[in-house]
Amino acid sequence: MKNVTIAAAAIILSALPAFAQPGDAKNGESHFKSDGCYMCHGYAGQGALATGPRISRTTLTYEQFLGQLRKPATAMPPYEEPIMPEKTAADIYAYIKAMPEPPNPKDLSLLYVTKSK
Ligand code: HEC
Repeated sequence: MKNVTIAAAAIILSALPAFAQPGDAKNGESHFKSDGCYMCHGYAGQGALATGPRISRTTLTYEQFLGQLRKPATAMPPYEEPIMPEKTAADIYAYIKAMPEPPNPKDLSLLYVTKSK
């Protein structure tokens, strides 16, 4: 009985779609650059008013992320299956999720203007 349970679990796990597996952030990083994401979202995923929103450490679920790639909300070009395989999308997702947190503006001393007496 125990063996049957283990076998069943193995079958279920192997049948999980690719997006359930953690992506390869390193490969995602090279695709983030070679596939042009950086051009609108910036190398740090920081975004820019004129081109695209911040996507570093996105709070979107993987399904929402993939939905945006396949059928973008408005101005972003679509990344369909033939040009962006599911595996590549998962890798890019892993990469942007793992991007470092932006520094706290309070820690950036240059932003403070010293008042002259
Ligand atoms: C030509 C500019 C452009 C390129 C290239 C581009 N994006 Fe976008 N992206 C946008 C814009 C503009 C939006 C805002 C929503 C829209 O217009 O579809 C957006 C939205 C997004 C969002 C949703 C952000 C949110 O929180 O709602 C994600 C995630 C995203 N892009 C990821 C990517 C990835 C990954 C790539 C590369 C594979 C990419 N984008 C390439 C312009 C771009």
